[in-house]
Amino acid sequence: MQDLVLSGIQPTNIVHIGNYIGALKQWVEIQHRHRCLFCVVDLHAITVPQDPKMLRENSLRMAATYLAVGIDPKRSHIFIQSEVPQHTELSWILETIAKISELERMTQYKDKAKKRGENVGVGLFTYPVLMAADILLYDTTAVPVGEDQMQHLEFTRVLARRFNETFGETFIVPQPLIQKVGARIMGLDDPHIKMSKSASSVLNYIALTDDADLIIKKLSKAVTDSDGKIVYDVKNKPAISNLLTIYHHATGKTLPEIEAEFSGKRYGDFKKSVAEALIFMLSPIQEKITLYQQDPGQLQKILDAGRTFALDAAEKKMNIVRERVGLGRS
Ligand code: TYM
Repeated sequence: MQDLVLSGIQPTNIVHIGNYIGALKQWVEIQHRHRCLFCVVDLHAITVPQDPKMLRENSLRMAATYLAVGIDPKRSHIFIQSEVPQHTELSWILETIAKISELERMTQYKDKAKKRGENVGVGLFTYPVLMAADILLYDTTAVPVGEDQMQHLEFTRVLARRFNETFGETFIVPQPLIQKVGARIMGLDDPHIKMSKSASSVLNYIALTDDADLIIKKLSKAVTDSDGKIVYDVKNKPAISNLLTIYHHATGKTLPEIEAEFSGKRYGDFKKSVAEALIFMLSPIQEKITLYQQDPGQLQKILDAGRTFALDAAEKKMNIVRERVGLGRS
């Protein structure tokens, strides 16, 4: 069986450097070694209310972002999840073997449910099953994600094994691919919570589309730790360690190299350098997002090709699944 990597991001208004460092940056490297499918998961996005027009715009912008960061459509397939209805079909089938108690343990669900109070849709609850369907549908062997998706990945593995035990060997049990440094980028305004697009303050994150002035401003306001030293120590110096991680990913320098570079320097100097490195990293991406958006024909062609590939692969797999479960006629 050939290796296949699949991953996806929800098409929301903001893509932040946590998404980039935790997921997108890994994807770009992985595509040179594996066959890859990258999905814009719009069905996941509607688990919270969305403006329909904005959602479509965001889906296209997300596809443009995949390309702009360096996903090569000659190597990898890019498609929009809802254009391949087999995802929801498999999700339903997997729901019949998923347990309510398992879904109730999902921390992302618990966090979101806490924020939304009474207003929690069923889709938010069953969301991890749809994610499992995204992955299992393509015989995915590895899934590059940030650490916050680890629990969903473990659940996917449980469902794959359970299905195989019940209906016979059908799904590959996928492996998570999580970076050693950068799997969990923390908020600039609070190093104890992860950087998040739903954060209450824009000072929490750097968006891939933030301009130079905004990046400088957000970095200058970023929280630091108290002892004035620029060393990597996640437990005792979470804020500076987070900035070191970001700088490491923006420059490619190792953590010891960075510690040496800033030994004896002040936090202010370091934050200025982090801002400069981010501007340097993000400006070509920003230019390319604009270029892809200005050429919607090219984007559409890439998404059409991705859909054709995904539909074919998904239908082949679903034929096997339907047969195993005994659905329809032979
Ligand atoms: P989403 O859209 O919330 O996030 C997309 C990717 O970004 C990673 N990420 C982070 N990494 C490091 N630090 C952070 N602060 C940070 N915030 C987000 C996430 O781990 C993720 O890799 N359920 C998924 C989308 C999904 C999916 C899939 C992923 C749907 N189906 C199938 C892989 C395979 C989600 O909501 O990611």
